[in-house]
Amino acid sequence: MQVTLPARLYGCPDAWLRERTGLFGHTWLFLAHEAEAPDAGDWIATDVAGHQLLMVRGADGALRAFHNVCRHRAGPLVSGVAGNCGRELVCGYHGWRYSLEGRLRAATGFGAAEGFDPREFGLLGLRLETWRGLVFVTLDPDAAPLGQIVAPLEMLLAARGFDIARPAARRTHVLDCDWKVYAENYLEGYHIGSVHPVLADELGPAEYRVRVEGDLVIQEAVGVNDGPQAGVWGWLWPNLGINVYRDGAMIERMTPVGPGRTRLDYLFLNDGGEGALGEALVASDRLTAEDAAICEAVQRNLTAGAYETGVLSPRHEAAVAWFQMRIGAVHA
Ligand code: FES
Ligand SMILES: [Fe+2]
Repeated sequence: MQVTLPARLYGCPDAWLRERTGLFGHTWLFLAHEAEAPDAGDWIATDVAGHQLLMVRGADGALRAFHNVCRHRAGPLVSGVAGNCGRELVCGYHGWRYSLEGRLRAATGFGAAEGFDPREFGLLGLRLETWRGLVFVTLDPDAAPLGQIVAPLEMLLAARGFDIARPAARRTHVLDCDWKVYAENYLEGYHIGSVHPVLADELGPAEYRVRVEGDLVIQEAVGVNDGPQAGVWGWLWPNLGINVYRDGAMIERMTPVGPGRTRLDYLFLNDGGEGALGEALVASDRLTAEDAAICEAVQRNLTAGAYETGVLSPRHEAAVAWFQMRIGAVHA
């Protein structure tokens, strides 16, 4: 019998800090699709577990990633989630100017200062790698190559002949629950009958299966693989759903934004653009609302103090058990 993680790890500031550095400081973090920044100067910014991440396309066509922080007094290089900065990144505080490659070009109006060498004040770079158009960054110079991490998913997509289409729409939802509550909910189909009646009807009596391969979880509803639900439902440690269907894909990042607070960043991909998504967006909003309501209720109970630990079903919650084991190691 596997006992769950203790309730105190959900929504607690100490746990948040440990996960922020001990977990999110070492994994690959999904940022965007490369087609969302096609031209020189195009940038995308986001925060994941408090890390302020920025990618920008250079004049040479290459994508680079940096912490979104100026080396002067920590001003932001960009504000918002996407834009074009022209030929350089200009700090929003006192106007220091950086090349798209991260070199400090001009410490605007700074004046003379003994020992100040602009070459030592380039932007703080991040490793960036791309897989099937999806851009990931990591803070960890020693993280295993992205290609190695996604290899099981790559093999599965290749075997099914699936491509990842072009970006068509983004959506975000903010939830009052710890990111782990949402991730665990995502990793089991046990709740579908109670929480998602419409989806349960669509899936019918199909058996819902979950398996773990390396850093990847694969979920399948056996028996619907030839129907409209056909696809590969992948999930990459620690917080990314990668759902690929015959005619599109949906990437879902479960983004920790603070103790007990989670933002869901959805990227819908479809070669027909947003207009072709139609029902998929409606269904996604419905599922998200259903999951948000149950996850927020669970979080309130985890915080309330009556419940300390529970148990996991080997039949339905093997991936939750695996997830909790890895989270437990972060807090050991
Ligand atoms: S903090 Fe960036 S220029 Fe001062
Ligand atoms: Fe759900």
